[in-house]
Amino acid sequence: MPTSSPSDKQIEVRAAIDRLNSESRSAEQFMKGITLLLNEKLLKYNWVGFYMLEDSTQPPVLALGHYQGAMTPHTRIHLNQGICGAAASSGKTVVVDDVSKDSRYLACSLETKSEIVVPIFVHGEVAGELDIDSHFPAAFGGDDQTLVEYCARLVGQRLEFESVKPR
Ligand code: SME
Repeated sequence: MPTSSPSDKQIEVRAAIDRLNSESRSAEQFMKGITLLLNEKLLKYNWVGFYMLEDSTQPPVLALGHYQGAMTPHTRIHLNQGICGAAASSGKTVVVDDVSKDSRYLACSLETKSEIVVPIFVHGEVAGELDIDSHFPAAFGGDDQTLVEYCARLVGQRLEFESVKPR
């Protein structure tokens, strides 16, 4: 029996994300489910977590939300710090193939070799981000970026929907 190619895997995971989205009763539950699902199904996704922007604090800070993987010392990250700060302040996905060569990198685990951080938008503004670390160098190719951006987009839609619900 042929083993499934990476793109088959991506299709399978995307379908599981869609199911999770329809079964989740809140954005919170959906986010928790995404961390579990990506960490479990994709072997190179060794740390999967959300950072959410707290703009009630001055200066604004990225606060750690749901995550799977090793405990991180970085529970609150300023926008001028780390790969996380770079993604949130630019509003652009950041992919780092070799974290040891990126001076912005804040170490979470000695095993981490590469990282992707994708901003989450709510009403056109950055509201948080989905951060994934890998123990493998250059773990995040084009297919991965597409998948992680898809997850971030769905989370943004859920958060946006909840923010306009009547109180
Ligand atoms: N590496 C991130 C910090 C978060 S940990 O990876 C969980 C950064 O450089 O911003």
